[in-house]
Amino acid sequence: MPAYRPGKDAAQAEEEHGIVEAIKLASNETPWGPVPSVVEVVSDAAAGTNRYADHRATAVRERLADWMSVAVDQVTVGCGSVGILQQLLLTYVDPGDEVLYPWRSFEVYPVFTKLVDGVEVAVPLKDETFDLEAVAAAATEKTKIILLSNPNNPTGTAVSMAEIKTLLETVSPDTIVVLDEAYREFMSDDLGNPIPDLIGDHPNLLVLRTFSKAQGLAALRVGYGIGHPEVIESIDKTLFPFAVNGLAQTAAIASIDAHDQVMERVEFIKGERGRVATALADAGWSVPSPQANFVYLPLGARADEVYLELEKSGVVTRPFTGEGIRVTIGTAEENDRFLETLLG
Ligand SMILES: Cc1ncc(COP(=O)(O)O)c(C=O)c1O
Repeated sequence: MPAYRPGKDAAQAEEEHGIVEAIKLASNETPWGPVPSVVEVVSDAAAGTNRYADHRATAVRERLADWMSVAVDQVTVGCGSVGILQQLLLTYVDPGDEVLYPWRSFEVYPVFTKLVDGVEVAVPLKDETFDLEAVAAAATEKTKIILLSNPNNPTGTAVSMAEIKTLLETVSPDTIVVLDEAYREFMSDDLGNPIPDLIGDHPNLLVLRTFSKAQGLAALRVGYGIGHPEVIESIDKTLFPFAVNGLAQTAAIASIDAHDQVMERVEFIKGERGRVATALADAGWSVPSPQANFVYLPLGARADEVYLELEKSGVVTRPFTGEGIRVTIGTAEENDRFLETLLG
């Protein structure tokens, strides 16, 4: 059973290498805390944590349904979007069933597949992005779930809703297709939006999103899923009691209220992402077009070596041995430090 390996934090790197002032660009978090109005309501809510919170996070579901213009029975809320993903696999995958995903992708997919004794079917990426024709061709009657991290973690590339629609029209309606949109806010609008564009026509589509990234609530653990009411009702049965804590519920609603402020920060990160990608391209690096809050350096066999050199200089990134490194976009100062360390 493989274990999930989280990104290293700055303090760990400082201790390991005997350095100071390391920066963490390893876990695709935002560099700032939540917006001030969210911090305020969470602080106030802390006094009420002697009581269990609402198991179903009803108020969050209602607010999300209103915000997304869907019915409330199309919405679920979980302990991070990975919490919902685990619920989904527990609900639908029996031992021997296939779970299909492009690979390299999000580290959690093989871990969760093994957890339910599913059979992993990994379809290689083509030019660091999904080969959806190959994904469709690899689907069989045993394929229970297809997992698509869009944008893809760690390569940062994204496919359009038109391409996802073609896939949905090709695979069996009994196969659940998950669009894991943890980085939704950082994607180009031109790629489309599955909630208005696809959910209505495809009851086997489940869209997962999170408050961990753009909204800066990673440590509170709250994510949501939008799909068909039957799928939502089924996966709700596997929700661990009170999995979505009270502070997370309060923070999620306040973050939706502060959406404009959140999106101002997202625009800043997108601007920095463009600046970093251009600087890398100007220096001769070939970087896949980034659609999330990170860039990917396809270093192949040199991945570990470059990762280690960056880390010894206090820039902590995420390595994928033999493949590449993933670098989160941080503040302007942090991004400058990464570029200066890498490019010299
Ligand atoms: C593709 C993808 N999905 C989900 C997550 C985690 O989201 P959450 O914090 O909502 O569980 C991540 C975080 O790294 C991710 O990269």
